[in-house]
Amino acid sequence: MATVSRGQWSGRMGFIFAAAGSAIGLGNIWRFPYSAGENGGGAFVLIYLFFVAAIGIPVVLSELAIGRTTQRNPVGAFKALVPGSLWPWVGGLGVLTGFGILAFYAVIAGWTLSYLWGALTGVYGGVLTADESLSLFNELITDPTKAIFLSGLFLLLTILVVRGGVSKGIERVTKILMPLLLIILVILAIRSVTLPGGMDGLVYLFKPDFSKITVTVVMSALGQALFSLSLGMGAMITYGSYFPDGENLPNAGITVAIFDTAIAILAGLIIFPALFSVGVEPGAGPGLVFVVLPSIFGSLPAGNLFAIAFYALLAIAALTSTISLLEVVVSYFVDEKGWSRNKSAWVLGIFCFFLAIPSALANGASPFFSDFMGTGVDFLSLNNNLWGNYSLSLGAIALCIFVGYKWGISNALASLEASGHKLPAPALFGFLVRYVCPVAVGAVLIYVIVTGNYF
Ligand code: TRP
Repeated sequence: MATVSRGQWSGRMGFIFAAAGSAIGLGNIWRFPYSAGENGGGAFVLIYLFFVAAIGIPVVLSELAIGRTTQRNPVGAFKALVPGSLWPWVGGLGVLTGFGILAFYAVIAGWTLSYLWGALTGVYGGVLTADESLSLFNELITDPTKAIFLSGLFLLLTILVVRGGVSKGIERVTKILMPLLLIILVILAIRSVTLPGGMDGLVYLFKPDFSKITVTVVMSALGQALFSLSLGMGAMITYGSYFPDGENLPNAGITVAIFDTAIAILAGLIIFPALFSVGVEPGAGPGLVFVVLPSIFGSLPAGNLFAIAFYALLAIAALTSTISLLEVVVSYFVDEKGWSRNKSAWVLGIFCFFLAIPSALANGASPFFSDFMGTGVDFLSLNNNLWGNYSLSLGAIALCIFVGYKWGISNALASLEASGHKLPAPALFGFLVRYVCPVAVGAVLIYVIVTGNYF
């Protein structure tokens, strides 16, 4: 396998920005607040943080270790390590999951474009009530042409970056925009926390009410931890495969995980105080962030400028995530099927557009997809749950079993520490990968299956 032609990040910082670009996205700003709100707040947040530390960090490191050693896409990586086994199917599930996630993620990402357009044309300049904001949102999501067009546009942008190759395309954008996003979020969080009634939001977010814990809450917190860190489908195997020699991989992986989690909490600090201040239900569902945010901009000086900057950065954060989703699928077709990068990006991106159409219609535009086959669940939420919670959990548990019992902790450590940089607590890493992850994830999945609490 010619490694030179696959490209590499320009250095450790290049990798950190690219991987943070993958991790930070709608998962932090859209999905985290909406899941936290649907799952009762504080207790969900606490379990989520536990899963990030106990499962997220070991899985990030495991994926990166596999990627660095094999320099391959998820399927090729397993083929290289255990040829002729069934393990490459774990990578295959990852590639499929990449499609599954991208197909609904592109729809939400499309909404950010519409909000950016609205901000550019001055819609959020004045003070909007929660009802006005809700009706703007409904106008958008129930219009089939708009919803389909916007997800298509977003996928087109993704294709254009991915076909240019990883280091050139992804790094350049994220290096500048991630720090800017952080600054804007901090300003919005300060504004939100100081809104009248904002403190109730902080209590909701941080004070755990343990009576609210159910299987669904635990499952969603696990899924959220994996989703937000881009784990369980080989995205970090792929990104680790472009990691430059001689750089500190353990440190880079852990930095990304901390950074990503901080952004999610920051998004919570923006959404929950504002939500209590304007009187929106925490469990409002996928539209939560889109309905709540406009009300904050109206209460800021030069609010419309903030709105423009915020939605532009949000769209870009989403783009650096869709890039990583498409990249996994593309790298598989480039490495394993011998397709050119350009052909892979176009063919697979367009295929994904067709997969995205039902999700684009699932919020009122089509009754069939909005209440999918009479299940009471819309097609977008169904996919969010199926790929974003279950499939990622399955991928994570398989990966931990692979690293812990097949490939071996010592091989993983050797790969992580290849350039002489030590992992802070190697024994803890081994313990988490071999015991905690398989047992915890396994228990959650079995519990969900046995109790039938799928949604
Ligand atoms: N982590 C991204 C977010 O929070 C979404 C994402 C990108 C992702 N690549 C992934 C999720 C791979 C799971 C797996 O928005």
